[in-house]
Amino acid sequence: MRVAILISGRGSNMAALLRAAAVPGYPAAIALVLSNRADAAGLAVAQAAGVPTAVVESRPFKADRDGFERAMEAEFARHGIELVALAGFMRVLTEGFVARWHDRMVNIHPSLLPSFKGLDTHARALAAGVKLHGCTVHLVRPGVDEGPILAQAAVPVLPGDDEAALAARVLEQEHALYPAALAWLAAGQVRLQGDVAVVTAPGA
Ligand code: GRF
Repeated sequence: MRVAILISGRGSNMAALLRAAAVPGYPAAIALVLSNRADAAGLAVAQAAGVPTAVVESRPFKADRDGFERAMEAEFARHGIELVALAGFMRVLTEGFVARWHDRMVNIHPSLLPSFKGLDTHARALAAGVKLHGCTVHLVRPGVDEGPILAQAAVPVLPGDDEAALAARVLEQEHALYPAALAWLAAGQVRLQGDVAVVTAPGA
């Protein structure tokens, strides 16, 4: 399966996916890293790994989200993209785009969904006093941070944690979780029962 990873910044999850995909037998090939910002640090990481990159600046399309997404899809077509992985991509996508990539687009979110959708998840988890926090990989649906959950990893919230400490603990789990979940999707191991995703054994 040929995958495009969409980033807006640092790209550490993208880097984790590139590392995983470099291992023989991984069921997905990262065929494109696309950023909506030319200054995304992750672009240089992808280039150093020899992965094709593209920039489709979202700013000029501010009033034309459909135009922005069509421009991204032109890049997808050029690179034969079959699956899309959002990895710190900071644009909300239109319903049309989400529908066109239905069940073929995943996102990683730094909380145990459905808790703490949106931004500043670590600060909000600390403020809420939860004892467990974590990350979620899910299929993308029109609602922000909604959609069938493929995998979650939980971490403890420890006494004395600040936002940075908690974020780092979650991020380490993200880097393991995302490659695993993308592999299940790419290998056809994900079945949907209504709104629930069930992961089956390889070849089942
Ligand atoms: C990650 O925490 C991810 O879960 C969230 O945005 C952050 C992106 O980090 N969606 P990176 O760019 O992958 O390092």
